[in-house]
Amino acid sequence: MSYPFQIKSLEQYHRDYKQSVEDPEKFWASVAENFQWKKKWDKVLDWNFKEPKVEWFIGAKLNITENCIDRHLKTLGDKPAIIWEPNNPEERVRLVTYNRLHKRVCQVAQMLKNNGVKKGDRVCIYMGMVPELAYAILGCARIGAIHSVIFGGFSAQSIADRLDDAKAEYIITCDGAYRGGKDIPLKAVIDDALVGNKTVKKVIVYTRTRIPVSMIKGRDLWWEDEMDRAEEMLEINDSSLIPPSGGGGAEMDAEDPLFILYTSGSTGKPKGVVHTCAGYMVWTTYTFVNVFQYNPGDIHFCTADIGWVTGHSYILYGPLAAGATSLMFEGIPTWPDAGRFWDIVDKHKVNILYTAPTAIRSLMGFGSEPLKGKDLSSLKILGTVGEPINEEAWHWYDENIGKKKCPVVDTWWQTETGGALISNLAGVTPAKPSWATLPMPGVQPVLVDENGNEASPELHSQPSPGSVASEGGALVTSGNLCIKAPWPGIIRTTWGDHERCRQNYFATYPNLYFTGDGALKDEQGNYRITGRVDDVLNVSGHRIGTAEVENAINMHAGVVESAVVGYPHDVKGQGIYAYVIYNGHHGDEDLRRKDILQTVTRIIGAIAKPDKIQFVSGLPKTRSGKIMRRILRKIAEGETGNQGDTTTLLDPGVVEEIKNGRL
Ligand code: PRX
Repeated sequence: MSYPFQIKSLEQYHRDYKQSVEDPEKFWASVAENFQWKKKWDKVLDWNFKEPKVEWFIGAKLNITENCIDRHLKTLGDKPAIIWEPNNPEERVRLVTYNRLHKRVCQVAQMLKNNGVKKGDRVCIYMGMVPELAYAILGCARIGAIHSVIFGGFSAQSIADRLDDAKAEYIITCDGAYRGGKDIPLKAVIDDALVGNKTVKKVIVYTRTRIPVSMIKGRDLWWEDEMDRAEEMLEINDSSLIPPSGGGGAEMDAEDPLFILYTSGSTGKPKGVVHTCAGYMVWTTYTFVNVFQYNPGDIHFCTADIGWVTGHSYILYGPLAAGATSLMFEGIPTWPDAGRFWDIVDKHKVNILYTAPTAIRSLMGFGSEPLKGKDLSSLKILGTVGEPINEEAWHWYDENIGKKKCPVVDTWWQTETGGALISNLAGVTPAKPSWATLPMPGVQPVLVDENGNEASPELHSQPSPGSVASEGGALVTSGNLCIKAPWPGIIRTTWGDHERCRQNYFATYPNLYFTGDGALKDEQGNYRITGRVDDVLNVSGHRIGTAEVENAINMHAGVVESAVVGYPHDVKGQGIYAYVIYNGHHGDEDLRRKDILQTVTRIIGAIAKPDKIQFVSGLPKTRSGKIMRRILRKIAEGETGNQGDTTTLLDPGVVEEIKNGRL
């Protein structure tokens, strides 16, 4: 497969960028020419950020799985689409060729049809990182069912909320999942999530760990039985799912929803980010091929879980649409030991490694021992995603893993953006440690102040972090990061509540998409993402709303009120600090803390457990009752000196008490 839209030089980057901004329709039409369409578009783009309404490739018909699978069969049929590395290194590796992937995806599609799943129905997927997860996702896309994958770390309550919001009628899960030394009982969690649920009709259970599971008659089905039945049917019928030549899968409109992925915001419950078929496909493929400079035959290892957007876009859709070989890893970086990633790179001769700063920092902590005897010479390109990367981690990655010969790409993006928006292109545009650098073609960032005015550059006498300042200081612009115009992979709506989408992303600053991130821009136009400016935390690259954690803590019977903030954490990037007013009786402080942690685990999942819980008698509030988070944040960060202006506080005395009790 060749990629005519692959940018090969800095000059070409500038040229393509210019074209993409001056004539987006022409630019994206020429990229989209490289995909398989059942019908071409009538118009490339229609948009306004007021409603908001964004439509790409209007009138086009396609099936994304035809692009990810069928069109490669002739040339790549026997080549691996997915290399699966099991949790236990002793277990057999599974190589899924494009031919096999085709067969399995058609089988899942048939299985779903047999069970009544139709185009537009929501299928919730709660599985471990097994190849069947990929088959399940693509099987949904093949018949136009909307998948909503839920990360295996979320609790029954979180799943119940998502099932309810999406009105999902079908679930695909596993009996259990292996993660390091743990065996997680996924089906049991689903059973809990389904207590009281009124919409789910069928639960299909894939056998992975063979722990005992309850199987409810009329509702629960074994994947293996259903897949057998589907296989027989496919063999007997000349099904449209496996057409004799070309084509394949349901005919989807460009703007039909492809999936829902829930993500946290600064208020309320997680919202269902909706991506649609054509734009998402074009964007993930375009960014995959350009950011990672993918060459046919390269082995791409993205270490994310498919439960997050990174896995959707850069384990599955982007790489597969590009006919790539994608390595999927079931386990965790520290099991059986902290050399696991390096073993995998060595074993499979990985060329591109894409991981999160938190993983790098954690592995860095183990020193060079786990690297001994590991041949990393196959590596060509390294990538990071999910949170700001500190310079120390960047250099460790560059020196110890890339041996200073692999470009490091720092890719900034979000669940809502579908794929990378700001990133260097490996070896093509310059890297700058801890800077995401330049926008992708089609992406027009702007930094604004609180009033929405474009921020102006200021002279920094101290060089900004990571910059090579000329003598006398550097001109740096600082502000809230917004994007001026749509790119093909932008969020289309939040499921079931378009107004929420508008409020969240398009209402803060008129006619701009607001990312929720703060950023710096240097004189060369490079961007450095400094972190969220809203009440969203980024813990180990996982996005968690402070309001969500507070709600969970407040569910505990003894808790009167709580306030949650982030604080810098050496490995996780951010840790969760909770201030809690408690009036229950049971046990000592330590026991109360454990009860609260248990409550948060029940309501959200273990990923949202606070690292620190400080019991307080009051919270700093303004006279109108608003919690002054700025003060709490400063205390959590260890800044116990001047708290700034506290004169508007209802009870300034409480600040002293909180400071003295800081953990
Ligand atoms: O704050 C930014 C941070 O992660 C947020 C998006 O989180 P999520 O939707 O879970 O997607 C993560 C994977 C794409 C952003 O608002 N973030 C992501 N990538 C970077 C980053 N912060 C700094 N540098 C990055 N490269």
